[in-house]
Amino acid sequence: MEGLQDQFAAIESLMTDVKAFPVANAAELEQFRIKFLGTKNVLKDVFAEIKNVPNERKKEFGQKVNELKQLAEQRFAELELVYKNAGNTTTGNIDISMPVNTAAPGSRHPITLMKDELMAIFTKIGYTAIDGPEIEDDWHNFTALGMPEDHPARDMQDTFYVQVNPAVLLRTHTSNVQIRVMEELTKSGKQPPVRIVALGRTYRNETISARAHCTFHQIELLYIDEGVTFADMKQTLLYLAQELYGAQTKIRLRPSYFPFTEPSAEMDVSCFVCGGSGCAICKHTGWVEIGGCGMVDPVVLENCGIDSEKYTGFAFGFGLERMAILKYKINDIRLFTENDLRFLKQFEQL
Ligand code: DAH
Repeated sequence: MEGLQDQFAAIESLMTDVKAFPVANAAELEQFRIKFLGTKNVLKDVFAEIKNVPNERKKEFGQKVNELKQLAEQRFAELELVYKNAGNTTTGNIDISMPVNTAAPGSRHPITLMKDELMAIFTKIGYTAIDGPEIEDDWHNFTALGMPEDHPARDMQDTFYVQVNPAVLLRTHTSNVQIRVMEELTKSGKQPPVRIVALGRTYRNETISARAHCTFHQIELLYIDEGVTFADMKQTLLYLAQELYGAQTKIRLRPSYFPFTEPSAEMDVSCFVCGGSGCAICKHTGWVEIGGCGMVDPVVLENCGIDSEKYTGFAFGFGLERMAILKYKINDIRLFTENDLRFLKQFEQL
């Protein structure tokens, strides 16, 4: 039946029209709608033809007509997403044809702020910034620091092992940099002075909570020379505390233990929130714990080829997250790694 073939051909050609109809703005979108979906749309003729199609081909014809209608609707929906509101700013709609504002400023991460501040404090008095590897061997992370295999102090630092034999691990502290720096020095035939600051990421196999995380940052200081004393360490720590928290800040050192220092201490600073009178931050003690320090154990010096009869030194290692939590009054350590813009935007805008 010739007429029927023509009708099928008419559907095909309408499909081509739908696909080819040029739309580049809201006005042309409206033209499209009127032509293919409006009350007097061009599909009506083929719809009207359905009743004339012989029964045995009605189903086939009906399917084709439906296909055409769906094509028109789908195409319209796609174009509408793009062009509906174009050029229509006065109605309060978004004009998506406007150029994008790419100048949205970011802000510095609180850990970066701490890092920059600490680096400035120590480079100002002659310390050199050094980087060390985050993937480390057993010797540099443990053994050379006075923690041979089976030493109970290893339990204090739950470790992520990348490989067991020979041990390759994610460093549990930045103290590995002490060993690397001293080894490097003596391998090239030199002896102290050594005066370095290392700052970087560390890892421990901890359950993540508001107080603990499996990844955090530490700052490590190492000063070795002839005649370096505990008093030098104390003065350097006081300088750090006053630079960070203000000239009125006091420090106190409590005896402690680390396998790589002797004697060892924990440093507290007078509470910079209440000034020492007692508040929630210092848990009403007037003091806030910052981290560990001590005189480098002679065994550590000897492990690195430094004459411990001639040279002495001090070291300390503090957690940056802890310092930032105190400084910016942050109540959950997980915020540092979640990249929540509501948190990040509160810090120095770039
Ligand atoms: N490495 C120790 C830790 O992660 C911190 C530390 C304590 C570093 C005393 C030192 C130090 O350099 O002297 O817990």
